Amino acid sequence: MELYTTHFLCNQAHRTAPARQFFYTQANWKTAPISLDLGCGTGVITSELTFSRAQAIGLDINPDLLTQAVMDNLPNNSVHHILADATSLPFRSSVASFVLSHFTLMWIHNRETALAEVKRILRPGSLLAAIEPDYTGRIEIPKDTEYTSHSPIIDYLIFRGADPFIGGKLPFELRSINLTKIQFGTLSWEYNPRTAQTEIRDEVALLQAKGIHWKPPVFTYTPIFWIIAFKRKIH
Ligand SMILES: C[S@@+](CC[C@H](N)C(=O)[O-])C[C@H]1O[C@@H](n2cnc3c(N)ncnc32)[C@H](O)[C@@H]1O
Repeated sequence: MELYTTHFLCNQAHRTAPARQFFYTQANWKTAPISLDLGCGTGVITSELTFSRAQAIGLDINPDLLTQAVMDNLPNNSVHHILADATSLPFRSSVASFVLSHFTLMWIHNRETALAEVKRILRPGSLLAAIEPDYTGRIEIPKDTEYTSHSPIIDYLIFRGADPFIGGKLPFELRSINLTKIQFGTLSWEYNPRTAQTEIRDEVALLQAKGIHWKPPVFTYTPIFWIIAFKRKIH
Protein backbone atom coordinates (compact mmCIF):
# COMPACT_ATOMS: atom_id res chain seq x y z
CA MET A 1 0.00 0.00 0.00
CA GLU A 2 2.27 2.77 -1.26
CA LEU A 3 -0.07 5.34 0.25
CA TYR A 4 1.67 4.87 3.56
CA THR A 5 5.29 5.56 4.28
CA THR A 6 6.69 4.76 7.71
CA HIS A 7 7.14 8.48 8.17
CA PHE A 8 3.45 9.15 7.45
CA LEU A 9 2.27 6.38 9.79
CA CYS A 10 4.61 7.55 12.57
CA ASN A 11 3.34 11.11 12.37
CA GLN A 12 -0.22 9.89 12.37
CA ALA A 13 0.37 7.66 15.40
CA HIS A 14 2.09 10.50 17.21
CA ARG A 15 -0.94 12.76 16.79
CA THR A 16 -3.38 10.18 18.16
CA ALA A 17 -1.22 9.08 21.12
CA PRO A 18 -3.34 10.81 23.81
CA ALA A 19 -6.47 8.95 22.67
CA ARG A 20 -4.64 5.63 22.88
CA GLN A 21 -3.54 6.43 26.44
CA PHE A 22 -7.22 6.84 27.29
CA PHE A 23 -8.02 3.52 25.59
CA TYR A 24 -5.47 1.67 27.71
CA THR A 25 -7.08 2.91 30.93
CA GLN A 26 -10.34 1.29 29.76
CA ALA A 27 -8.91 -2.17 29.10
CA ASN A 28 -9.32 -5.08 31.45
CA TRP A 29 -5.87 -6.66 31.52
CA LYS A 30 -6.49 -8.95 34.49
CA THR A 31 -6.71 -12.38 32.87
CA ALA A 32 -4.50 -13.74 30.09
CA PRO A 33 -3.92 -10.39 28.50
CA ILE A 34 -3.71 -10.71 24.75
CA SER A 35 -4.08 -7.60 22.66
CA LEU A 36 -4.51 -7.32 18.92
CA ASP A 37 -3.33 -4.51 16.68
CA LEU A 38 -5.73 -5.06 13.78
CA GLY A 39 -4.06 -3.99 10.53
CA CYS A 40 -0.80 -3.14 12.31
CA GLY A 41 0.90 -1.91 9.10
CA THR A 42 4.56 -1.16 9.81
CA GLY A 43 3.93 -1.81 13.50
CA VAL A 44 4.44 1.69 14.85
CA ILE A 45 1.90 1.11 17.63
CA THR A 46 1.93 -2.65 18.37
CA SER A 47 4.59 -2.60 21.10
CA GLU A 48 2.45 -0.16 23.11
CA LEU A 49 -0.10 -2.95 23.53
CA THR A 50 2.31 -5.04 25.62
CA PHE A 51 1.91 -3.06 28.79
CA SER A 52 0.51 -4.83 31.87
CA ARG A 53 2.47 -7.86 30.62
CA ALA A 54 0.13 -8.38 27.67
CA GLN A 55 1.23 -10.35 24.64
CA ALA A 56 0.60 -8.11 21.65
CA ILE A 57 -0.23 -9.43 18.21
CA GLY A 58 0.22 -7.30 15.14
CA LEU A 59 -1.95 -8.65 12.32
CA ASP A 60 -1.94 -7.42 8.77
CA ILE A 61 -2.94 -8.59 5.30
CA ASN A 62 0.02 -6.90 3.60
CA PRO A 63 3.21 -9.04 3.75
CA ASP A 64 5.55 -6.13 2.96
CA LEU A 65 4.26 -3.96 5.77
CA LEU A 66 4.20 -6.91 8.14
CA THR A 67 7.82 -7.77 7.33
CA GLN A 68 8.79 -4.26 8.32
CA ALA A 69 6.75 -4.59 11.52
CA VAL A 70 8.56 -7.83 12.36
CA MET A 71 11.99 -6.28 11.75
CA ASP A 72 11.22 -3.15 13.76
CA ASN A 73 9.91 -5.12 16.75
CA LEU A 74 12.60 -7.84 16.73
CA PRO A 75 14.01 -7.31 20.24
CA ASN A 76 10.58 -7.46 21.85
CA ASN A 77 9.54 -10.97 22.95
CA SER A 78 6.04 -9.84 23.82
CA VAL A 79 5.22 -8.72 20.29
CA HIS A 80 4.06 -11.31 17.74
CA HIS A 81 2.97 -11.00 14.14
CA ILE A 82 0.46 -12.78 11.97
CA LEU A 83 -0.21 -12.41 8.27
CA ALA A 84 -3.98 -12.71 8.04
CA ASP A 85 -7.19 -11.11 6.88
CA ALA A 86 -9.26 -9.28 9.48
CA THR A 87 -12.40 -10.83 8.00
CA SER A 88 -11.19 -14.30 9.01
CA LEU A 89 -9.22 -13.99 12.22
CA PRO A 90 -7.07 -17.05 13.00
CA PHE A 91 -7.91 -17.08 16.72
CA ARG A 92 -10.29 -18.99 18.89
CA SER A 93 -13.27 -17.14 20.34
CA SER A 94 -13.11 -14.93 23.46
CA VAL A 95 -9.32 -14.76 23.58
CA ALA A 96 -8.44 -11.07 23.27
CA SER A 97 -8.48 -8.52 26.08
CA PHE A 98 -8.17 -5.57 23.76
CA VAL A 99 -8.44 -4.92 20.02
CA LEU A 100 -7.16 -1.73 18.44
CA SER A 101 -8.06 -0.49 14.97
CA HIS A 102 -5.96 2.53 14.12
CA PHE A 103 -6.97 3.70 10.64
CA THR A 104 -7.60 0.07 9.62
CA LEU A 105 -11.36 -0.53 9.55
CA MET A 106 -11.63 2.25 6.95
CA TRP A 107 -9.65 0.01 4.55
CA ILE A 108 -11.46 -3.27 5.11
CA HIS A 109 -13.88 -3.97 2.30
CA ASN A 110 -16.17 -6.30 4.20
CA ARG A 111 -16.33 -4.33 7.43
CA GLU A 112 -19.41 -6.12 8.73
CA THR A 113 -17.59 -9.46 8.67
CA ALA A 114 -14.45 -7.98 10.22
CA LEU A 115 -16.48 -6.45 13.06
CA ALA A 116 -18.23 -9.76 13.68
CA GLU A 117 -14.82 -11.42 13.84
CA VAL A 118 -13.50 -8.82 16.27
CA LYS A 119 -16.54 -9.35 18.48
CA ARG A 120 -16.07 -13.12 18.34
CA ILE A 121 -12.45 -13.03 19.53
CA LEU A 122 -13.01 -10.45 22.29
CA ARG A 123 -13.40 -11.79 25.81
CA PRO A 124 -16.71 -10.77 27.40
CA GLY A 125 -16.16 -7.41 29.10
CA SER A 126 -13.24 -6.50 26.79
CA LEU A 127 -13.16 -3.75 24.26
CA LEU A 128 -12.58 -2.71 20.70
CA ALA A 129 -10.94 0.71 20.50
CA ALA A 130 -10.85 2.46 17.15
CA ILE A 131 -9.41 5.61 15.68
CA GLU A 132 -10.85 6.30 12.24
CA PRO A 133 -11.33 9.46 10.18
CA ASP A 134 -14.47 11.06 8.86
CA TYR A 135 -13.82 13.23 5.82
CA THR A 136 -17.45 14.43 5.81
CA GLY A 137 -16.22 17.31 7.94
CA ARG A 138 -12.99 17.95 6.03
CA ILE A 139 -12.00 21.64 5.91
CA GLU A 140 -9.51 23.10 3.44
CA ILE A 141 -8.57 26.78 3.40
CA PRO A 142 -8.39 28.11 0.77
CA LYS A 143 -10.23 25.55 -1.31
CA ASP A 144 -8.80 24.67 -4.71
CA THR A 145 -11.51 26.08 -6.99
CA GLU A 146 -10.90 23.27 -9.47
CA TYR A 147 -12.48 20.88 -6.99
CA THR A 148 -15.82 22.46 -6.22
CA SER A 149 -17.65 19.61 -4.49
CA HIS A 150 -14.99 18.04 -2.31
CA SER A 151 -11.30 17.41 -1.88
CA PRO A 152 -9.52 15.17 -4.41
CA ILE A 153 -8.15 13.32 -1.37
CA ILE A 154 -11.66 11.98 -0.71
CA ASP A 155 -12.01 10.73 -4.29
CA TYR A 156 -8.58 9.20 -4.06
CA LEU A 157 -9.38 7.28 -0.87
CA ILE A 158 -12.63 5.98 -2.37
CA PHE A 159 -10.80 5.02 -5.54
CA ARG A 160 -8.29 3.06 -3.45
CA GLY A 161 -11.13 1.20 -1.75
CA ALA A 162 -11.28 3.03 1.57
CA ASP A 163 -14.35 4.40 3.32
CA PRO A 164 -13.34 7.99 4.19
CA PHE A 165 -16.65 8.56 6.00
CA ILE A 166 -16.37 5.68 8.48
CA GLY A 167 -15.83 7.70 11.69
CA GLY A 168 -19.38 8.91 12.24
CA LYS A 169 -20.90 5.61 11.10
CA LEU A 170 -18.91 3.29 13.32
CA PRO A 171 -20.74 3.85 16.66
CA PHE A 172 -24.04 2.81 15.04
CA GLU A 173 -22.42 -0.21 13.39
CA LEU A 174 -20.96 -1.33 16.72
CA ARG A 175 -24.33 -0.90 18.44
CA SER A 176 -25.92 -2.95 15.64
CA ILE A 177 -23.73 -5.95 16.49
CA ASN A 178 -24.73 -5.65 20.14
CA LEU A 179 -21.52 -4.20 21.54
CA THR A 180 -22.22 -2.07 24.57
CA LYS A 181 -21.02 0.94 26.64
CA ILE A 182 -20.14 2.72 23.40
CA GLN A 183 -18.37 6.03 23.76
CA PHE A 184 -17.01 8.19 20.98
CA GLY A 185 -15.88 11.68 20.09
CA THR A 186 -13.55 13.52 17.78
CA LEU A 187 -9.91 14.13 18.59
CA SER A 188 -8.42 17.52 18.97
CA TRP A 189 -4.78 18.48 19.14
CA GLU A 190 -2.59 21.52 19.27
CA TYR A 191 -2.16 23.15 15.91
CA ASN A 192 1.49 22.78 14.97
CA PRO A 193 2.26 24.73 11.79
CA ARG A 194 5.26 22.53 10.99
CA THR A 195 3.53 19.15 11.20
CA ALA A 196 0.41 20.58 9.57
CA GLN A 197 2.48 21.58 6.55
CA THR A 198 4.11 18.13 6.44
CA GLU A 199 0.68 16.55 6.29
CA ILE A 200 -0.37 18.79 3.43
CA ARG A 201 2.87 18.07 1.59
CA ASP A 202 2.31 14.31 2.02
CA GLU A 203 -1.17 14.60 0.54
CA VAL A 204 0.01 16.74 -2.38
CA ALA A 205 2.81 14.26 -3.13
CA LEU A 206 0.37 11.37 -2.98
CA LEU A 207 -1.96 12.98 -5.51
CA GLN A 208 0.92 14.15 -7.69
CA ALA A 209 2.19 10.58 -7.94
CA LYS A 210 -1.20 9.70 -9.41
CA GLY A 211 -1.07 12.61 -11.87
CA ILE A 212 -3.64 14.68 -9.96
CA HIS A 213 -2.66 18.31 -9.66
CA TRP A 214 -3.92 19.89 -6.47
CA LYS A 215 -3.19 23.42 -5.37
CA PRO A 216 -2.26 22.88 -1.72
CA PRO A 217 -4.38 24.61 0.88
CA VAL A 218 -2.73 26.55 3.69
CA PHE A 219 -4.81 24.79 6.34
CA THR A 220 -6.60 21.46 6.45
CA TYR A 221 -8.62 19.72 9.13
CA THR A 222 -10.00 16.19 8.99
CA PRO A 223 -12.16 15.05 11.92
CA ILE A 224 -10.75 11.88 13.49
CA PHE A 225 -13.10 9.82 15.62
CA TRP A 226 -12.13 7.81 18.70
CA ILE A 227 -14.56 5.05 19.61
CA ILE A 228 -14.67 2.38 22.30
CA ALA A 229 -17.18 -0.46 22.53
CA PHE A 230 -17.32 -3.46 24.87
CA LYS A 231 -18.39 -7.04 24.36
CA ARG A 232 -21.21 -7.79 26.81
CA LYS A 233 -20.38 -9.81 29.90
CA ILE A 234 -22.13 -13.14 30.28
CA HIS A 235 -24.26 -13.17 33.46
C1 LIG B 1 -3.66 3.03 7.19
S1 LIG B 1 -2.86 1.56 7.45
C2 LIG B 1 -2.74 1.64 9.23
C3 LIG B 1 -1.62 0.86 9.78
C4 LIG B 1 -1.46 0.94 11.32
N1 LIG B 1 -2.68 0.57 12.01
C5 LIG B 1 -1.03 2.32 11.72
O1 LIG B 1 -1.85 3.10 12.21
O2 LIG B 1 0.16 2.64 11.51
C6 LIG B 1 -4.13 0.36 7.21
C7 LIG B 1 -3.64 -1.07 7.39
O3 LIG B 1 -4.75 -1.97 7.29
C8 LIG B 1 -4.31 -3.14 6.63
N2 LIG B 1 -5.47 -3.87 6.12
C9 LIG B 1 -6.33 -3.50 5.15
N3 LIG B 1 -7.26 -4.45 4.94
C10 LIG B 1 -6.98 -5.44 5.83
C11 LIG B 1 -7.59 -6.71 6.11
N4 LIG B 1 -8.67 -7.13 5.45
N5 LIG B 1 -7.05 -7.48 7.07
C12 LIG B 1 -5.95 -7.07 7.75
N6 LIG B 1 -5.33 -5.88 7.53
C13 LIG B 1 -5.84 -5.08 6.59
C14 LIG B 1 -3.39 -2.59 5.55
O4 LIG B 1 -2.55 -3.57 5.01
C15 LIG B 1 -2.67 -1.49 6.31
O5 LIG B 1 -1.50 -1.95 6.92
